[in-house]
Amino acid sequence: MTSEISSRYPSMDDLRERAKNRVPQFAFEYLDGGCNEDVSIIRNTAEIRDVQLQPRYLRNFGESDTRTKVLGMEFDAPFGISPVGLQGLMWPNSPEILAKAAHKHNIPFILSTVTTMSIERASELTEGKAWFQLYNPVDDALRDDIIDRAEAAGCPVLVLLCDVPTFGYRPRDIRNGLALPPKMSVKNILQILGKPTWALNTLKHGQPTFQTLKPYTPEGLNLRQLGQFMDKTFSGRLNAEKIKPIRDKWKGKLVLKGVASEQDTKDAIDMGFDGIIVSNHGGRQLDAAQSTINSLREITRYSEQIEIMMDSGLRSGPDIARAMASGAKFTFMGRSFMYGAAALGNKGGDHTISMLKTQFKQVMDQLCCERVEDLPNHLIK
Ligand SMILES: Cc1cc2nc3c(=O)[nH]c(=O)nc-3n(C[C@H](O)[C@H](O)[C@H](O)COP(=O)(O)O)c2cc1C
Repeated sequence: MTSEISSRYPSMDDLRERAKNRVPQFAFEYLDGGCNEDVSIIRNTAEIRDVQLQPRYLRNFGESDTRTKVLGMEFDAPFGISPVGLQGLMWPNSPEILAKAAHKHNIPFILSTVTTMSIERASELTEGKAWFQLYNPVDDALRDDIIDRAEAAGCPVLVLLCDVPTFGYRPRDIRNGLALPPKMSVKNILQILGKPTWALNTLKHGQPTFQTLKPYTPEGLNLRQLGQFMDKTFSGRLNAEKIKPIRDKWKGKLVLKGVASEQDTKDAIDMGFDGIIVSNHGGRQLDAAQSTINSLREITRYSEQIEIMMDSGLRSGPDIARAMASGAKFTFMGRSFMYGAAALGNKGGDHTISMLKTQFKQVMDQLCCERVEDLPNHLIK
């Protein structure tokens, strides 16, 4: 991290502001928005920030260590990059930027089924360490083909998504007529002309397309067609019958993402998942949802039986510490890393990870907490 960047962009708000200035409005709103009236997206962060931690100043304190184990792997910090679809639309080449940075910093990168980089490329950039998020295909042959590709790429973790039973209702995207490639309405052209760095980078890297799904997808879908294609090709509605063949086939770790209830946690344990990510898709699906920090509290009692991770609403080192103190074994963030990539291009992944690591370590030092697994001892109940 160069010191100029670190002094100009020391917080997520700084990165978000710069991203907003560099990305056309229709693409920024796709990244930044929640759904319906934006209640859930606001609640997620607000309720994480209600969590308070207590320092232990008089304890013998050596050095804090941010290394964290999850699913049998050790990472340099207790956070990773959540799967985000259509990344290249928000910032050209952003999945490559983020995968490379995650690999350099030894944190996990999860590739979305519907993003603009392929499983094979993600694996190449991370020396086989990228995790893969699967939208469950309706067609068994398609499902098996994607799983075979993830396995051939050496992917260690398959993340099955359960919180998209249907496409989210997002008024901004509906108004913007969001499409891939971007729809050339007068409004969108004017927005693109106003963001020359984004436009030039898009020209350089080419139209973003669904790279992993390329062999199976028709081209040039608008938002409505994309929704129809997704609904037809993938079934977010999961149950024991649909999950069993995936568990039987996948030899690596299997994680269920989007868990928000105790019952789904118990079912995930019964179905043989190794881990869950407590998530409400960053408040993009069910606007009446519980905040993920509250869902987490109801679920942590199962942490002996399944590894419990969390995302949705985290934006800073203190937020990560609050989630870990509340019982998460690991955390993930979606928008935060995309703000970083959009704000700073090739340097964005590196800077955002360094910034979050610095902020998180600083909280551990403030608490006089040496090990990440001791953070729950600092939680004020
Ligand atoms: C623009 C955008 C696209 C997303 N696309 C996907 C996706 O394709 N697959 C998936 O599992 N989750 C997707 N998510 C959800 C993220 O993985 C993650 O759960 C969410 O961003 C966490 O909330 P945060 O942004 O507040 O950190 C997306 C989120 C955003 C913001």
